[in-house]
Order: sequence, then C-alpha cells, then structure tokens
Amino acid sequence: MTVTIALGLQWGDEGKGKMVDYLSETADLVIRAAGGANAGHTIVNNDKKYILHHLPSGLIHAHARAYLASGMVIDPFSLLKEIKGIEQQGLSDLRNRIQISPAAHLILPWHRDLEKIREKSPGAIGTTLKGIGPAYESRASRKGLPLALLKYPDLLKQKLSSIFQEFAPFFEKFEVSVDSVDEVHAQLLQVAREIVPLLGDLQPLLDKYIQPDDNNEIILEGAQGALLDINHGTYPYVTSSSTISGGLLSGTGIGPLKIDKAVGIMKAYTTRVGNGPFPTEIQGKAGEKMGKIGGEFGATTGRPRRCGWLDLVALKYAVNLTGVKDLVITKIDVLSDFEKVKVCTAYKLPDGTSSSFFPEDPWILEKCRPVYKTFPSWNISGSLTVDNIDPALQAFIDMIEKYTGARVSFLSWGPQRHKTLRV
Ligand code: GDP
Ligand code: IMO
Ligand code: MG
Repeated sequence: MTVTIALGLQWGDEGKGKMVDYLSETADLVIRAAGGANAGHTIVNNDKKYILHHLPSGLIHAHARAYLASGMVIDPFSLLKEIKGIEQQGLSDLRNRIQISPAAHLILPWHRDLEKIREKSPGAIGTTLKGIGPAYESRASRKGLPLALLKYPDLLKQKLSSIFQEFAPFFEKFEVSVDSVDEVHAQLLQVAREIVPLLGDLQPLLDKYIQPDDNNEIILEGAQGALLDINHGTYPYVTSSSTISGGLLSGTGIGPLKIDKAVGIMKAYTTRVGNGPFPTEIQGKAGEKMGKIGGEFGATTGRPRRCGWLDLVALKYAVNLTGVKDLVITKIDVLSDFEKVKVCTAYKLPDGTSSSFFPEDPWILEKCRPVYKTFPSWNISGSLTVDNIDPALQAFIDMIEKYTGARVSFLSWGPQRHKTLRV
C-alpha cells in the first residue's frame, strides 16, 4: 500500500491536473480533500482535453475510484454538470467510480450571491465567485449544510430556513433579490435524486484500500497551492481552506503516519490569479508575453493569470510548509522561448536588509523586492530524455534542489501525458 500526497507549491495552476493524471496511472483510489469548484485541473490525453473542478484528476484512468472527501465544499448543481460533461466525453462507468462524503458541505446559491456582492466592494480578493468562502464560513459557524441532508427533505428545509435567516438582512441591505427557501429547497431535491446515490463513507473504502500488505495505491490530490493556504498563505488573498499537506490530512481524515510520499508540483515560473502580493510579478507587456506563451488563462474563470519569474524564497517556504521531498517542474518548455531566465533568490526587505525567508507579516511581504540571478535559457528539441537535458536546464534544476533541499523527480515539457520525464 502506498499513499502519496500530490499538491501545488505556488498560487495554484501549477499543472496538478496533468501530473496527478500521470502519477495515477496505477492508482486505485484518488481523493480530493478540500476546496470545490474553485479548482480547475486540466488533463490532456491524446486528443482529448478534460477540465475537472470537483472531481479528482486520477479519475480519467478507467480503473481508478474517486472520492470527494468531507473537507470539500460542493456545489451539487455544478458537480452534476461536471459529471455529465465528462460522461459525454466518453469516460465510462463514471458513477460507479465516484463517491462523495455525506459530511462534505453544500455550496448553496445564496453563498454565490453573497460572494458576488462582496467581491464588488472595496477590498475584493479576486475570488473565483464559486461560493467557496461563504460556504466555509457557514461551516465554521456551525450553520452549514452537510450533503447528507439531501437524504432528509424535511430536515433540509429546516436547515435552509435557519441559514437563510442569517443571510436575509445582508441581501435586503444590498437590495438583491435571491431565490426563496422554497425555491432553493425544490432545486436541491431535484439534484438530490442523482447526488444521493453517490454518497458514501470514506472509512469502509480506506479499510479496503489501506492494508499494509497489499499493492494498492492511493493519491491525495491537492487543489489550489500552498501560498493560497488559509493559515500560511498570503492572507487575506488566499482561499478559505488549508491547501498544504496538513489540509489534505485533515480534509480526508487520514493520519500522517499513513503517508508514504509527498510530491510538490511547481511551474518553472510563477503565476497568480486574483489580487494579492506577488514579488516576482512581471508588469506590463513583458508579463503579458509570458502569459501568452504559457497559455496562462484560468481553467475555471478564463481570467488572464498574472505572470512572473520563479521565486525560490516562496518556493522554499512552500516546500517547508508541505514537507514534500520530491518536486515536479512543469512548463519548462515555456521558458525555452525566452533568451534569459530570471530566478529570485532573496527578498530585499523594506528596512534595506536581505532575507531568504518568506515573511509572515503581510505588510512586510507587500514591500519586499526580489533579488534576481539571471541564467541562460535552454533548448528542448524533440523528445526530452535523461540523456539530452540541456546543461542550462540542468543548472536550473540543480539550483532549485540546492535552495529547497527537495529533489526534482519529474520534468514536464507540455500539457500531454507523454511529455513528462522521470529524472
Ligand atoms: P492545475 O490547476 O494545477 O491543475 O493547473 P491548470 O490546469 O489550471 O493549468 C495548467 C495549464 O498548463 C493547463 O492548461 C495544462 O494543460 C498546462 N500544462 C501543464 N503542464 C504543462 C507543461 O509542462 N507545459 C505546457 N506548455 N503546459 C502545461
Ligand atoms: P487550482 O486547483 C488558482 C484563488 C482565486 C483567489 C483566491 C480565493 O486550479 O490550482 P476562492 O474562490 O478560492 O475563494 O478564491 O484563490 N484560487 C485559485 N487560483 N488556482 C486555483 O485552483 C484557485 N482556487 C482559488 O483566484 O485569488
Ligand atoms: Mg487550475
């Protein structure tokens, strides 16, 4: 039995979808632990492209089972759309392979309405507008609605009425008209017919798969990235769940001693969607050029991603937060289109000193300026193999390993599954 954690080390969109699909080739069970449809994970396999939001990426392999764990917040309407979309793309036996925790929480239409109002106000985070933050707030306030309620229509109505009492004054203040309790209740009962058959507990599955003496492989798939973590990320410009290894453990209820491997996925440069500090951001036309070459447009919202150079200070912080020993570097093909590659090796702090530590004080982070080293870029011609790694790329890899203490174990040079090299 092997349990592997695979997660993002930056501000999301590192290529987790591609890499989890790759790592899941022989996986038996792939589990999403937290977040919801704010995630957009892209998998390109032969001539098919899948974009998954709630569903774990390993699901593309016909033998893999997928579990949506209790740490998630799930929009049942958008989940069903996602399942139907993937079914139409020809993925077989899907509904027999997906299970959802009855303890995961519902994202209600009101959560999305609330977020829309907030994000129009000053201080917007630049969220994905999927209702993630408000749903986690409801959960933390103990007014949230676990998916299990879809089995109990009367109780569901009671809980909807109770939570609506909390939201109503807000909607009245902003003069926004929203669906009534009866309307939301009816909508939920409609989707319950297809969601309820998918509900199932994780413990029996784990009992089946986590046996010390068998060859089962389980992958815990991260969403977002370490720097968007609610506790350790660039607060308040973060998501509302824990995105680091600890978050994957808490979101699934799997204990730390069950984990065999932790793999961190990073881009050869950095991107960020939404607002918040980004020390190595390339402003203006040059940043747009990187976005164009890298195809940096959100898989969930279509928003252009902000682009910048690799930030080793932030990366080392993320490696420490997540405890990953293995790294995957994606998108090395994108930097091969540049003549020179810059890498941030330290921050210049507002008091004039330099530091190689990511500051926890958000107001200091805002004022940090990157200190760069410049490297020649590399060539990737034809198929990348361990025997034809350009020395310039090898120097880039060596520097990342030296700085972070983690080992670069995979390189990715294109969206397709086969454009991956184990090194
Ligand atoms: P995720 O959220 O971490 O799963 O990443 P996204 O799917 O949101 O964004 C990553 C984008 O980069 C997708 O369009 C992928 O198809 C693409 N991609 C992944 N790996 C590579 C790579 O090595 N090179 C290139 N050029 N594109 C890649
Ligand atoms: P994947 O899994 C990139 C960002 C949003 C916003 C902040 C809060 O595809 O890497 P939220 O809707 O979660 O409340 O938004 O977090 N964000 C992501 N950015 N990739 C993601 O997911 C993200 N999920 C959330 O842009 O800045
Ligand atoms: Mg994404």
